[in-house]
Amino acid sequence: MRAELEQDFERFKRELPPDFAVHVRSAYRIDLTARYLGERLPHPIGKGSGQLSLNAGQLEEDAAAGLAFAVLKTVIAEDVAGTQTMAAWAIHETRMRVERRVAADGRPGWTVTWKGRGWDRTLDEYIALVRAGRDLTRAGGLLVVPSVKYHLPRLDEAFREVEYRHTTARLAQAWGTPPLLVEKDFSPTLAGDALADDRAQILRWLREVPGRIRAAAPLPARVAVKLMNARFDNAFQLDMMQAAGEADALVCFNRLFDAGRGVAYGGWDLSDRNLRVLDLYRPLPPSAALYRPVTGTGNICSGRLILDYARRGCESVQLHTFFQLPLSQYPATHGSRTQRALHALVFHPQDGLIAGMLELEARGEIERRDGELHFLDVRGHAHRPG
Ligand SMILES: Cc1cc2nc3c(=O)[nH]c(=O)nc-3n(C[C@H](O)[C@H](O)[C@H](O)COP(=O)(O)O)c2cc1C
Repeated sequence: MRAELEQDFERFKRELPPDFAVHVRSAYRIDLTARYLGERLPHPIGKGSGQLSLNAGQLEEDAAAGLAFAVLKTVIAEDVAGTQTMAAWAIHETRMRVERRVAADGRPGWTVTWKGRGWDRTLDEYIALVRAGRDLTRAGGLLVVPSVKYHLPRLDEAFREVEYRHTTARLAQAWGTPPLLVEKDFSPTLAGDALADDRAQILRWLREVPGRIRAAAPLPARVAVKLMNARFDNAFQLDMMQAAGEADALVCFNRLFDAGRGVAYGGWDLSDRNLRVLDLYRPLPPSAALYRPVTGTGNICSGRLILDYARRGCESVQLHTFFQLPLSQYPATHGSRTQRALHALVFHPQDGLIAGMLELEARGEIERRDGELHFLDVRGHAHRPG
């Protein structure tokens, strides 16, 4: 299998087959099936919300590349008159810089420096993008999910339900058939904002927001909560995960916030922190009624990192930075950035997902069932003592 992997890695440098998960299953007897928000995916790799899911062209290219899912850029909720209480997040900024970022322990990684925030065009334009995403989802290309930043009040204030209702109704109308899938963004810039100084206030949002979104939806809805890295300790990250117990899925965790420079950042400091917190989190087994599925995000730059998140309970992953690297950083010689990234993440003979799954098998962490290894079995490790 090692020799076959080397061969696949070489030949797919020129072109990655879009149904590579089918190939992986037949050639390696590895079933990469994964899940996000209760939806079955052919493999675990998706795109996190941001600047890479702003238009239909990007989604079409990702569907053609064989990406499993894409979360659209975060739109700021509004009421019927267009009032956005969270308008401070709808600012326009185009310039992004992909930069090296050295972690606290000296490891060189990558980060994207950008001062922007949420969707800066109209809700109508966002709804048109949701429709394009719906069509691709129905065609079986890739699963597309909208992302929203809804109103978050101070402790002594009420939620502006009119913004929840209007925005969710527009999304539901565009999507048409149930379930409506929505991701709620708690962003790093929110973590850096005075609004997030108060722990009790944050925990109230997390307790109440999933139910408010579902209640505002005219269709049955499933809500993923994308948690921020708050400016408190690891124990508070766990408190946030627990407070969001009404969510249908948790996305853990958005980028760190550099208060000095006023920007969000990633790299190894981000994955180290996220994995440390997920190590402390003991998910209930998937059979338990209160089980909350987790999706990983943060510095995922190899198949090994995907498995690091999976071993801590994640059933899929969302990447942003790794889809933005200079072309020289990908081993593939042809194809879109998404194709080149997928090629490295899955087929790299040392650091790819296949190599990593075979290694977990050799270590006895996962076993074949009916002759196959299953990606979703990796999270079983999170339930083992020690
Ligand atoms: C330029 C940029 C813009 C982003 N915008 C959003 C956003 O609008 N909403 C959101 O939930 N996450 C946003 N993110 C976070 C990413 O989706 C992702 O969770 C995060 O960057 C960690 O993954 P990474 O280390 O692979 O980049 C953004 C990230 C970057 C780099």
